[in-house]
Amino acid sequence: MTEKATTGEPFNCNELPTQDYLEQRQALIQAFCTVRQHSEQIASRFSPEDQQLQSMPEASPVKWHLAHTSWFFETFILAEFAPRFKWFDEHFCYLFNSYYNAIGRQYPRPQRGLMSRPGLERVMQYRKQVTTLMLDLLQDCDDDLFGKFAAGLLLGLNHEQQHQELIMTDISHALLYRNCEQGQPVSEQSVCINSSESKSSTKGWLDFTGGEAITGYQGQGFCFDNELAAHPELLQPFQITSHLVSNADWIEFMDAGGYDDPMLWLADGWAWKCENNVHSPLYWFRANRSWYRRTLAGAQSVPTNDPVSHLNYYEAEAFASWKKARLPREAEWEQVARSYVWETNHKPGRKLDDKKRPANSVHDLGRYWQWTQSAYSAYPRFQVSPGMAAEYNGKFMVNQIVLKGASHATAAMHSRASYRNFFYPHARWQFTSLRLARDSN
Ligand SMILES: [Fe+2]
Repeated sequence: MTEKATTGEPFNCNELPTQDYLEQRQALIQAFCTVRQHSEQIASRFSPEDQQLQSMPEASPVKWHLAHTSWFFETFILAEFAPRFKWFDEHFCYLFNSYYNAIGRQYPRPQRGLMSRPGLERVMQYRKQVTTLMLDLLQDCDDDLFGKFAAGLLLGLNHEQQHQELIMTDISHALLYRNCEQGQPVSEQSVCINSSESKSSTKGWLDFTGGEAITGYQGQGFCFDNELAAHPELLQPFQITSHLVSNADWIEFMDAGGYDDPMLWLADGWAWKCENNVHSPLYWFRANRSWYRRTLAGAQSVPTNDPVSHLNYYEAEAFASWKKARLPREAEWEQVARSYVWETNHKPGRKLDDKKRPANSVHDLGRYWQWTQSAYSAYPRFQVSPGMAAEYNGKFMVNQIVLKGASHATAAMHSRASYRNFFYPHARWQFTSLRLARDSN
């Protein structure tokens, strides 16, 4: 596995026990600088024109992400705690508020690509001012004040890291979905997918006996509110595949008419497929009787042994149905993840060594997001976080599906068993894949 990481190695906020905020102030300052710089480093790989693009309502321009993550710190920390605070531009509260209704009205999300003003230069000035004021506050405030916003600072850092992945997936969609036809790289640097095929060890079904399994975050560091409260789930015996579904598997599904058999598809999925005339994963195209995929490094032959990606929930469900299997439930997936060494692929060039891998281990837990069959809803004893985080996760707990794992664009510190990603079932522009599950006899 040789896909290039899109994130560096920023400071691991999750290693900070919450009770040690005060002692860890210098570490948090360093973390803040690293995260802010990393967003700009990712964005700088793209031209100002590219950073303006918005290809669909769900995706946002890179420029907007850069401004919004600054708005988050400005609104929730600086405006609240910085002495002699003044807004950089009061109109930005309208432009760069994403969905926080308690804060105020928002510029229409589907039209963010029309927002040519402020220009990128002005947005970068905004980022610079917010970063400077945040550092002034972090360095000058007393411990009492620091303790009041330290948790918010951690949330802001994790929030910005989530947007770093969105920057990659959103601009990939903008550049690859329509604009980039077969051939030329859209970036001189290979910023995202530069895959080569991996030799996989023996694939198979792994047995789990079920029973009581703890689901949710149990550590002492940072987690999002939707990972709480950790609780027991009673699982029936099940099996899960050691590997993600591969591109070769997917081509077999397509060749078998998987996209043309309504009996394999959920009703909403079949309607989506017909309406959008879908016959292959996103970014795939056929030429010379072979399958290719568009990547930011240019078009390439689909690597048959690699996991398939850029599928939505409907496609994943149809494939599972074709295989006479199902998608894993969230609690099953989490029990599997806790039972094996978590393998991520965040370091460029890092290869998994199959010889060192325990027999029958689970591959690629953190390489692609994996659809589950679980609706995104609250865990038992979930509580909406008070204050600034109240609108962060809880209000989205309807009509969406949980994805587990991580991707090569995910910040390493978000790569954990309890992390709950969630998207609408039709979404396919994230780095999404699947592994199969089935009930044990
Ligand atoms: Fe956000």
